[in-house]
Amino acid sequence: MNEQLRHAPKPELLTRFAAIVGDKYAVSDAATLAPHLIEGRGLYQGRTAMMLRPGSTEEVAAILKLANETRTAVVPQGGNTGLVGGQIPFDGEIILSMTRLDKIREVDASSNTMTCEAGVVLQKAQEAASAVGRLFPLSLGSEGSCTIGGNLSTNAGGTGALAYGIARELVVGVEVVLADGRIMHLLRKLKKDNTGYDLRHIFVGAEGTLGVITAAVLKLFPQPRAVETAFIAVPSPDAAVKLLNLAQSRISGTVTGFELMIREIIDFALKHGHNIRDPLAGKHPWYVLMEVSSQQPDGLRDEVEQFLADAIEQDLVIDATLAANLDQAKSFWHLRHTLTEVQKPEGGSIKHDVSVPVAAVPAFLEEASAAVTAFIPGSRPVPFGHVGDGNMHFNVSQPIGADTAQFLARWTEVNAVVDKIVLKHHGSISAEHGIGKLKRESLVKVKDPVALDLMRNLKHMLDPNGIMNPGKVL
Ligand code: FAD
Ligand code: LAC
Ligand code: ZN
Repeated sequence: MNEQLRHAPKPELLTRFAAIVGDKYAVSDAATLAPHLIEGRGLYQGRTAMMLRPGSTEEVAAILKLANETRTAVVPQGGNTGLVGGQIPFDGEIILSMTRLDKIREVDASSNTMTCEAGVVLQKAQEAASAVGRLFPLSLGSEGSCTIGGNLSTNAGGTGALAYGIARELVVGVEVVLADGRIMHLLRKLKKDNTGYDLRHIFVGAEGTLGVITAAVLKLFPQPRAVETAFIAVPSPDAAVKLLNLAQSRISGTVTGFELMIREIIDFALKHGHNIRDPLAGKHPWYVLMEVSSQQPDGLRDEVEQFLADAIEQDLVIDATLAANLDQAKSFWHLRHTLTEVQKPEGGSIKHDVSVPVAAVPAFLEEASAAVTAFIPGSRPVPFGHVGDGNMHFNVSQPIGADTAQFLARWTEVNAVVDKIVLKHHGSISAEHGIGKLKRESLVKVKDPVALDLMRNLKHMLDPNGIMNPGKVL
């Protein structure tokens, strides 16, 4: 990276940056900065002298222009829910907080698009779509605080990706401030626009290393007219994959959610979660949360009931319950979305956000669980996740009573054990959370060298002075 890069700017320079947003929005007091310097997993502690909170695209442009001219490093931050440390300033960089750019500029129901500024909280975007009878299908456990800019910059996946696609597939147009302060206006609502290279995708998934996304046109879908949500006990991941294939081919509605969870993590949720009830009587080895949606208002419930009865006959399902009403459906999803939180009280947890081809999920889970428990006897794999996308959160909790720090000190070794199995199955070591700081060293080991070279060239071309989120991804 560029040797002249300034990580921690001097007070005179900070004053110039503050003048762009006004003193009120140039935050430098330690108490206000503190929550922006740590991330949810407690893995990292950052430091900075200032967080800038611009209120317009033009202010973002002025900040980056000055940063580029003075070689000052900046770290974009949205809701600070990222799980790979990408949004944390590790070396005194200025934080560029995007949360004041929180306008929904337009909801165009006829075109099935919505134009949101980067700081719009995902849940607000979902609600705005819903208010006009449309669905914005991106859905994450963090949706109450993560932002559209963060979602696009991490190319988030979540539970709706199975039917509607990952964040990349939900972006129609973008407005981006480049590292030199120029604004690229690509806020089009067009599905078809073949006027050269598709530049929007360069910034999606770039984790703030190439420019700052200030607004985006997002794709909307019709609100489904019938939704059925089932909590299903299955004997194995293999049965879960077969059940998914069967559901997709048999049910006339669309399978819009299909999440796999091991029993042990349900136990964590029952023990440590709030308002959690076990949806089924008895204990079963694995569970699936399945959601099916249809544009036909009638008949879906009978169809799903019949489907589950047949699946029990075929030994793919042990037991199942269909949500009787919206509240019960919400309680099933609440259980699913609480799974990140409930691992914490069980002590140290070594995480893997990985993907393999869907057909390889059962073998991956079996091999990775055996390898990890052989490597650290007593360690407790608690896999769960988006099995329909081949994306499992293969998280490993520490042995009961073990020393947490000693367990976490083995993070990289455990990653190596799991990643080897992921690669054997032609998978990815980062399915949906990104690279950030956490997986930067792993990336160079697994990425095709030519692709890596192109990534570096692209970074150099778009950000020759290396001011954008240094030390992340590459
Ligand atoms: P931040 O954490 O603030 O930033 C993330 C990255 O994007 C950083 O590199 C940052 O520099 C960059 N960035 C942020 N805004 C901009 C911008 N406007 N322009 C350029 N760069 C920017 N992720 C999933 O994919 N699927 C899940 O199912 C999922 N579930 C989660 C559940 C929980 C409980 C939690 C805590 C997290 C979960 N996440 C999930 C991870 C996280 O919520 C997502 O990565 C989310 O997209 C981050 O959004 P954010 O606004 O919080 O971004
Ligand atoms: C989830 C996060 C961990 O799926 O991605 O809950
Ligand atoms: Zn996930």
